[in-house]
Amino acid sequence: MNALEISKDIYWVGHVDYDHHDFHGYSKSPVGTTYNAYFINDEKKTLIDTVAPGCGCTLLCRLAHVINPVKIDYLVVNHMELDHEGSLAQIVEKCRPEKIFCSQMALTSMAGYYREEMKNWPVQAVKSGESISLGKHTLVFQETRMLHWPDSMVTYCPEAKILFSQDAFGQNIACTERFVDEYKGNDFLTRVKEYYFNIVLPYSPQVLKALPVVESLDIEMIAPDHGLISRGARDVKSIIDMYRTMAEQKPRQRAVVIYDTMWHSTEQLARAVCSGLEENGVPATLMSVKENHHSAIMTALADASALVVGSPTHNNGVLPYLMSTLTYIKGLRPKILVGGAFGSYGWSGESPKILQKFLEDMKIELPCAPVRAQWRPGHDGLKEAYALGAGVAAALKAKCQG
Ligand code: FEO
Repeated sequence: MNALEISKDIYWVGHVDYDHHDFHGYSKSPVGTTYNAYFINDEKKTLIDTVAPGCGCTLLCRLAHVINPVKIDYLVVNHMELDHEGSLAQIVEKCRPEKIFCSQMALTSMAGYYREEMKNWPVQAVKSGESISLGKHTLVFQETRMLHWPDSMVTYCPEAKILFSQDAFGQNIACTERFVDEYKGNDFLTRVKEYYFNIVLPYSPQVLKALPVVESLDIEMIAPDHGLISRGARDVKSIIDMYRTMAEQKPRQRAVVIYDTMWHSTEQLARAVCSGLEENGVPATLMSVKENHHSAIMTALADASALVVGSPTHNNGVLPYLMSTLTYIKGLRPKILVGGAFGSYGWSGESPKILQKFLEDMKIELPCAPVRAQWRPGHDGLKEAYALGAGVAAALKAKCQG
């Protein structure tokens, strides 16, 4: 396992986790992920970020191809979540850095994870705009609070024109390529959206504040802590533009229809809702919550501004997978402009009303009454579901054009 020189005297020394498909325990990473760490070979030998628990040996092995790890002088901790700092104690013990730089807020999370170990660590908190000299290189720290943790910061090297951006601009991709321009897969954009909409989305206001700061820097490379590195003016601009688009969430003329079903009646309604949307000018993605993980549904919402939800009534309520998916969506606070609810029932039929209320509480405009169909939807039930789709389509188109 070698170190890869990504710029003169700057090396990638991370870990590729091909089999990690359950990112942070709540979001799927279907093609694995990487934990990127970087080494700057200067008078002050500097390591930027570490890797997940159990992956420290890989980092040390890569590092050893360039330098004896005990010669590391500085360690920069951009973010204390354990996918980056879960091996921190191991790396500090091996490298014995003269200084560990992190944000003020990271002192709290560092103490939370390493209270005993860090008593002997030479930790120094830094503020936005503070810089250190490594010799030929300078590192400038910029706090990015709530992007996506209070402790988050990024590190800029003006001489190399590299932004070490920690989670920001990252994607869950495990592959042998390190740069976007080398990547042969056709899923880069999907992985960017997947990461943003499942991790970063609630902090979009902070993203919109941070982007002008990023754009004011002379950057030739954005090196995140997950996935591929963007290099060159075109790719740097492209990932920044993607972030602006995702953070703004301007109205998108597309809908996502999610549903659960017991005996396929609600599924039939879902298909009719989809027809009502599509045949009235709003393309729709139909997703069963049993067949699609909630993180895949969030990724689909990256391209949609309408959400229509359906569940049969079960025990006077909503089926659990549907409810858990909705709870997850609500927490991430996507800008959903228009919605609707539907569901079949046998006896009592509460589910569509409960769903409608849930969407209302999310401040989603609901142009139609919830659609209910007893037993099998039949022609009339399907017509109502179609009309729900058509009504949502009309309302969404008005917003997109307005
Ligand atoms: Fe990749 Fe917030 O950790």
